[in-house]
Amino acid sequence: MPTEDAITMLGIETSCDETAAAVVRRHPGGRAEVLSSVVASQTEAHRPFGGVVPEIAARAHVEIVDSITRQAMAEAGIGFDALSGVAATAGPGLIGGVMVGLSFGKALSLARGLPLVAVNHLEGHALSARLAADAPYPFLLLLVSGGHCQLLVVEGVGACRRLGTTIDDAAGEAFDKVAKVLGLGYPGGPALEALAMKGDPDRFTLPRALLGRKDCDFSFSGLKTAASRIAQAECHTDQDRADLACAVQNAIARQLSERADRAMALYVHDHRHRLFVVAGGVAANKTVRRVLEDTAAARGFAFLAPPMEYCTDNAAMIAYAGAERLAAGMTSELGVAARPRWPLDEVSALADPTHKTGRKGAKA
Ligand code: KG4
Ligand code: ZN
Repeated sequence: MPTEDAITMLGIETSCDETAAAVVRRHPGGRAEVLSSVVASQTEAHRPFGGVVPEIAARAHVEIVDSITRQAMAEAGIGFDALSGVAATAGPGLIGGVMVGLSFGKALSLARGLPLVAVNHLEGHALSARLAADAPYPFLLLLVSGGHCQLLVVEGVGACRRLGTTIDDAAGEAFDKVAKVLGLGYPGGPALEALAMKGDPDRFTLPRALLGRKDCDFSFSGLKTAASRIAQAECHTDQDRADLACAVQNAIARQLSERADRAMALYVHDHRHRLFVVAGGVAANKTVRRVLEDTAAARGFAFLAPPMEYCTDNAAMIAYAGAERLAAGMTSELGVAARPRWPLDEVSALADPTHKTGRKGAKA
């Protein structure tokens, strides 16, 4: 049953390499109050392997999900009987990890007699802007992280329409892969940004993807291949590497801006209120942020980037999406399955054959 009472939600997030738990209160009307948000990153465990190792991630989640949850409850200063429900990420993501958090959420729901809400991780990101700012629906969202790169019209909970997605790598993945080629370690995005500051933007020319198309899809694999070739053939000094880092950063920022611009043009056809939100780890990149802010301004859109703690993976966004769902009367059965792939907008994902297959396919 829909409700307009305040809702206090526990959220659990274990879909990648962060174990997170949070307590969020949703006030009538939708305003969010974050009572606690605890994130334990596994970056150090994965660093020796140059990327996230799914089995290591799943085991690490098992080891700490209960203590992280206890910490979130303690920091919120409430007992389990004060909760209105439990929200857990049910996908998309690394399936071993997703199963850990979802099973834990189910157990809590059963033991405490609380409603369970299985949350799509992407819906968590989609609504994250509302955790710290007044971001009325609808708005246009660019979600740009290590796992995702998509443009979404967020009409409300359970009502996100996808305008475009990547047909291969996510933008953060492109940053990470080029950083690896340049010997910058993992995760490479921030290191590549630091190196790019010393680079000459005009030294190397990189290919522009999907130029002939009119849609809002992304592609970064050609850029990554071209950058790898240049790195091997022409990068011998620190200056060479800085010049390449600068070219890659600008190429990624330009593609994000071009597709965002197309999406804004489509969006204004049927929406009056113009708000553009960028979320995900890549939103930390200053060049990306500046270019997107300029693009939004040129189209008359207000620009909003949530604070970094809510841009990168966290459980506050899962708790809030769960609270929005609970407020609308949408809960899940205890038998709900964990899903490695779970497009937010299943209609668009299935209608477009380019997104059905491939490693990232429906996930991205
Ligand atoms: O949202 P996030 O923490 O995790 C998910 O992928 O869900 O995003 C992490 C991604 C990584 O690929 C990382 O390299 C990238 O965001 N990233 C950056 C920067 N900070 C993080 N990329 C470019 N410049 C940055 N400053
Ligand atoms: Zn994420």
